[in-house]
Amino acid sequence: MSRTIIRGGLVITATEETEADVLIEDDTIAAIATPALAREWTADTVLDATGRYVIPGGVDAHTHMEMPFGGTFASDTFETGTRAAAWGGTTTIIDFAIQPVGRTLREGVEAWHAKADERCAIDYGFHGILSDVGDGVLKEMDALVGEGITSFKMFMAYPGVFYSDDGQILRAMQQAGDNGALIMMHAENGIAIDVLVRQALDAGRTAPKHHGRVRHPRLEAEATHRAIQLAAVAGSPLYVVHVSATQAIAEITRARHEGQPVFGETCPQYLFLTVDELDGPGFDGAKYVCSTPLRPAEHQASLWRALRTDDLSVVSTDHCPFCFAGQKELGRDDFSKIPNGIPGVENRLDLLHDAVVAGHITRRRWVELACTTPARMFGLHPRKGTLAPGSDADVVLYDPHAEQVLSAETHHMNVDYNAYEGRRITGRARTVLSRGEVIVHEGEYRGRPGRGRFLRRDTCDYLT
Ligand code: URP
Ligand code: ZN
Ligand code: ZN
Ligand code: ZN
Repeated sequence: MSRTIIRGGLVITATEETEADVLIEDDTIAAIATPALAREWTADTVLDATGRYVIPGGVDAHTHMEMPFGGTFASDTFETGTRAAAWGGTTTIIDFAIQPVGRTLREGVEAWHAKADERCAIDYGFHGILSDVGDGVLKEMDALVGEGITSFKMFMAYPGVFYSDDGQILRAMQQAGDNGALIMMHAENGIAIDVLVRQALDAGRTAPKHHGRVRHPRLEAEATHRAIQLAAVAGSPLYVVHVSATQAIAEITRARHEGQPVFGETCPQYLFLTVDELDGPGFDGAKYVCSTPLRPAEHQASLWRALRTDDLSVVSTDHCPFCFAGQKELGRDDFSKIPNGIPGVENRLDLLHDAVVAGHITRRRWVELACTTPARMFGLHPRKGTLAPGSDADVVLYDPHAEQVLSAETHHMNVDYNAYEGRRITGRARTVLSRGEVIVHEGEYRGRPGRGRFLRRDTCDYLT
């Protein structure tokens, strides 16, 4: 048996902060104790955490490695994307396996295993994306829940691609109500948005900034409202992904106050960037095209408030990188052809820590939003997302005083720009352990492709 001790750090979980030492035996946390009690411990490896926070590895519940879009693929593979995640202190990702239109969900899941298995540096799970709901898919959902794929994303946006109509959504929600799955909703009124897109293009408004204008906050709020009502009728829980608009938060807040099991997620891009990025010089705005879109700055105060009140309970990245050269450029003459997505899997923990420094959230809330709640929401807790005896030894030694400047020059994501280029932030993951193995240590990468394991997830912790 191998034994590692992490000595002298401040152990932070969602509920506690204590000066404590952590004992790891093989891949599992064996004990957490005060330095006085831990003095007797012996180990093969001792990691000095003096001046560091000791936190659970990050859980990013929303990534898109190698996602197909408009004839191209998101530029991070499972190999490069999970390595970048590890550099940033994230030790678990949950990616989305897409049901190809006209095919089975099973085929999508198998295709995702083929891409991810033997390649990931950290542990990984899958959600399913339902793009073509019918009798067969509803039955497949039951089987997949039994195999640890316990959440399914649906789209009220992208007609003709991933879009589901209200009847399909209601049926999938009914099924989820029965089998314990969680429906994740991309809530934007895609039918109305497509009309506005057509009108904009016909009028010659082809630049990236028009992406932000046609995807109106009210069309996010309307779809959020509709999803909430459908979930209530179906008797199923609902998780709304990438919430960006004040008006959508209001819908979620109201449902939660009425006692409905509705949960909301937001992403760093909505907290730290605004719609103004879409109006950057030349075609630079394309780097910031994602859906839901970046919003005017005033929405950020609502997002931070909701993160504090728990009306939004998770921050994940929606990491979906497309290179500016050759990929974002596909939409040079037509903003609707710009592949949607922003890279960020490496930067989430640090950006959120910077928000701790700025006073938006507390340290414990940082851990809760980035590690603990995503693990609980998606059936990985207490194995992931916390530091406790019996949990996987996914641990980050975090330096809260390190200064860094985010840049494509230094990041590890396989994409030719960083959405936060030049931003100065305080904090950095120094040492990262995944199941007891040091995979990043003081600027050195020690992980390897294929060491990450597929995670069979339980159902959502908040419903049982
Ligand atoms: O723009 C985005 N968010 N791209 C990824 C796909 C999705 O809708 O989450
Ligand atoms: Zn989406
Ligand atoms: Zn996404
Ligand atoms: Zn739990």
